[in-house]
Amino acid sequence: MTSQVTSQVTREETNQEETNQEETNQEKGSSDVSDLVRSERRGATLLLTLNRPKALNALDRATLLALRSAVDAVADDDAVLALVLTGEGRAFAAGADIAEMRKLSPLEAKAFSRLGHETFSALEGLRIPTIAAVNGFALGGGCELALACDWIYASEKARFGQPEVALGLIPGFGGTSRLLRRVGIAWAKEMVLGGENIDAETAQRIALVNRVFEPDALLDAALAAAERLAAKGPVAVALAKKVLHEGQDTDVRAAHALEQNAFGLVFASEDRGEGMDAFLTKRDPKFSGR
Ligand code: HXC
Repeated sequence: MTSQVTSQVTREETNQEETNQEETNQEKGSSDVSDLVRSERRGATLLLTLNRPKALNALDRATLLALRSAVDAVADDDAVLALVLTGEGRAFAAGADIAEMRKLSPLEAKAFSRLGHETFSALEGLRIPTIAAVNGFALGGGCELALACDWIYASEKARFGQPEVALGLIPGFGGTSRLLRRVGIAWAKEMVLGGENIDAETAQRIALVNRVFEPDALLDAALAAAERLAAKGPVAVALAKKVLHEGQDTDVRAAHALEQNAFGLVFASEDRGEGMDAFLTKRDPKFSGR
């Protein structure tokens, strides 16, 4: 039922968005809606690139829908074992598209927030590990998008922030919940109530960011890390990710029980035999993902 409703809403939004996007593309000198999120295979990793650089990759509905469809395609592709998400140009994403949001009624604003939530939750819920390679501004919805990835790698030039209060708004794509879980209440309040941007070094100090790189080294570092992740046992990585997520939102005893059950379940995979045999016979494992 839920997925039927979702796809219906998505179809309606797609139709409406195709019209809106034609105008936006003309303004921004682009011609193809599917160009809004570029999708490229690099080994076992899928590289997704937000591609609206003239608007600093601001997330309008068309871009969110393009991202949603790219994420859904990854979920269905067993050959993809890791994902890297980055932005074209000098931004990762400078937030939700303010020009588009300015026209929204309260109900349309809620639907826009829901579209972002559904898209980011689909990304967060992927079985494969995901890395945000934050090359520049990650503000508002852009910061929230990075937060939906498992790891955040950042360029020294990256800037993070939840500046919504400066616009008279609040975060609407998970900033109050995912940011809080990642950095704790003190820094979540600093960023969400204060609305000031922080640099990459500060973001790393508060554990919003995992690692910081020179700008030219960022993407290669993220892709190399993704390939290393892709070489691990896919069933184990997926289960570990699931237990971390579900365990975070429950009490510690239930989290311990989740872990025990998942530990038992991973023994149903072929990969666990391969991984341990490889160790015991001093060779590299060849995981099948089964
Ligand atoms: C629409 C945007 C945009 C945005 C930048 N642009 N951010 N358009 N929505 N969020 C556009 C600018 O209008 C401009 O277009 C072009 O990108 C380049 O931006 P400049 O401002 O000229 O660049 P610069 O001076 O370098 O400043 C960069 C910046 C600034 C600091 C990132 O653009 C900025 O503050 N952007 C807004 C950041 C923000 O408030 N994000 C949160 C949005 S609310 P033109 O056509 O003039 O060249 C949000 C809510 C999420 O994310 C939840 C929703 C439910």
